[in-house]
Amino acid sequence: MPIRFPAPLLAALGFALLVPSETRVQAQAPTDANIAAGMRIYRQKADCQSCHGWAGDGRKMDNQMPDGANLRTSSLDREQLIFVIKCGLPGRDMPAFDRLAYSDERCLGRTRADLRRMGLTLPDPAATLQAREIERLADFLFAKVIGQGPMDRAACIDYWGDDVAVCSDLPR
Ligand code: HEC
Repeated sequence: MPIRFPAPLLAALGFALLVPSETRVQAQAPTDANIAAGMRIYRQKADCQSCHGWAGDGRKMDNQMPDGANLRTSSLDREQLIFVIKCGLPGRDMPAFDRLAYSDERCLGRTRADLRRMGLTLPDPAATLQAREIERLADFLFAKVIGQGPMDRAACIDYWGDDVAVCSDLPR
């Protein structure tokens, strides 16, 4: 039986706090190709940058989109990150990218009908992602974004692999 929280409380607590964290998978060190693949998914297929910004710092690319969190300062571990990408954050404008989210048990046993009853909405994702693609996103985010400090000139050059125009405005 999933525990029922009143919607405002759930929203205040943050869905992320309910993420189960007992099971830990040991991830292998990602290859450069995996990181590059994750970056492409972040920027193109999933369009995470429209809400979170290209640097993942929450400076979104599209003013019409909701304000995404600053992922650079996120304290989620890999398991929690993958859960949030798959299941989104109901009621907080973070889409669910797993095609089967809220249609079976995978998102804390909740269904779309449960979310509706709780008054929690979810925006549609730009595209749904395979488990493998979400792993690549995690590889990229942990290598270039999460816990990597603010985006400065050096981090920018490392991120783009080149001293591109956007980097020249950043502090050294
Ligand atoms: C439609 C806008 C939107 C898109 C697209 C989007 N997000 Fe989000 N995301 C949000 C919002 C809004 C939040 C929650 C902000 C809050 O309430 O703290 C969030 C929160 C998160 C969090 C939780 C951060 C934390 O530390 O709690 C992660 C991780 C995340 N997003 C990753 C992604 C990834 C990866 C993608 C692309 C696959 C993505 N998001 C696409 C809007 C978006």
